[in-house]
Amino acid sequence: MTWLGKKIHDVLDSVSTDIGIDLGTANTLVYVKGKGIVVNEPTIVALNKKTGQLVAVGDAAKTMMGRTPAHIDVVRPLVEGVISDFEVTEEMLSYLINKVRGEVKTIVAPRVLVGVPCGITNVEMRAARDAARNAGARDVFLVYEPLAAAIGAKLPIEKATGSMIIDIGGGTANMAVISLGGMVTAKNLRLAGDHLTAAIVSYIRDQFKVLVGEKTAEEAKIKLAMIVSGDDMREMVVRGRDVVTGLPREVVVTDTDIRNAISSAVDTLVETVRGVLEQTPPEVLADIMQRGIHLSGGGALIPGLAELLEEIIQVPVIVVPDPLRAVVRGTGIILENLDRYEDILIDNEGELTTQLT
Ligand SMILES: Nc1ncnc2c1ncn2[C@@H]1O[C@H](COP(=O)(O)OP(=O)(O)OP(=O)(O)O)[C@@H](O)[C@H]1O
Ligand SMILES: [Mg+2]
Repeated sequence: MTWLGKKIHDVLDSVSTDIGIDLGTANTLVYVKGKGIVVNEPTIVALNKKTGQLVAVGDAAKTMMGRTPAHIDVVRPLVEGVISDFEVTEEMLSYLINKVRGEVKTIVAPRVLVGVPCGITNVEMRAARDAARNAGARDVFLVYEPLAAAIGAKLPIEKATGSMIIDIGGGTANMAVISLGGMVTAKNLRLAGDHLTAAIVSYIRDQFKVLVGEKTAEEAKIKLAMIVSGDDMREMVVRGRDVVTGLPREVVVTDTDIRNAISSAVDTLVETVRGVLEQTPPEVLADIMQRGIHLSGGGALIPGLAELLEEIIQVPVIVVPDPLRAVVRGTGIILENLDRYEDILIDNEGELTTQLT
């Protein structure tokens, strides 16, 4: 870059807004430098099929789910942590970036930091970068979500002490062992909260011959998941459609039903955590045994999950404060201290991915 080019760039940096985005499978959160978290909504978009125009984003689009006329489509543009519908993601980001620009009243395009799961392909990473750029970002930076979550949870990631974080979201469980500002071992398991919800839908259909909606299954998950046996048995009435008669029917599901429904997915999660620990060098492993494994993301709130992990892995498990916002808080801390955290951003080619599984 020429001297003049660099000067112009520096001036733009000083007057533009910096935005951090946790573009999640289930929820999208936006942090604006100097302002804090300004958006926290489901990653859902309603579109007019005829004109291609955006009808609603976030909560407004979620309430339209299952209630739309033929010409409106409600879409979840991310699947398993990565962009599956590029155009819709771009439209959603563009809507969010414009909203922020309107609020902070800036005419200069913002710099945008986007969190991405670790272990994704370069193509998936480029899609995130391009979507943010096409949506109006002047510069795009990417950061691995577990690193952002660890920073958001104030773990001492820059020290020569191992920390482990597992971010269990809607579409991915992203786990990383971090030391000296980098990931020592990491794994992106494409199985998380939404898969548990889907497993509950299938279980109720198979066991009770009733088809329930996703929202009902999610409620059952949040209320009953894996309460340690011996506690009072809990149950819940769920309503759905009888698959034989086609008519509405109510059934009572218990915590045991929910535990059975999600047990195989939970086993996979536990085995994956074990696998990551097995690949972790002994010194770092000793740090983790002492300091514990930190859980973030909505999945960290699954009742009984932290206790179960702790019991099986025999390492303390700690849910970080406000786990649903750890990643976006991390992007905020990075933006407020860009010089300090420059080294942890993913470079243009996504080079860091090569060391990851
Ligand atoms: N209290 C709760 N108990 C259990 N599960 C919860 C709770 N709150 C949210 N969840 C689940 O957490 C998931 C959403 O978490 P989160 O917002 O961290 O995901 P995301 O960041 O959008 O997804 P990803 O990081 O996988 O792309 C959903 O599956 C939701 O059902
Ligand atoms: Mg997430």
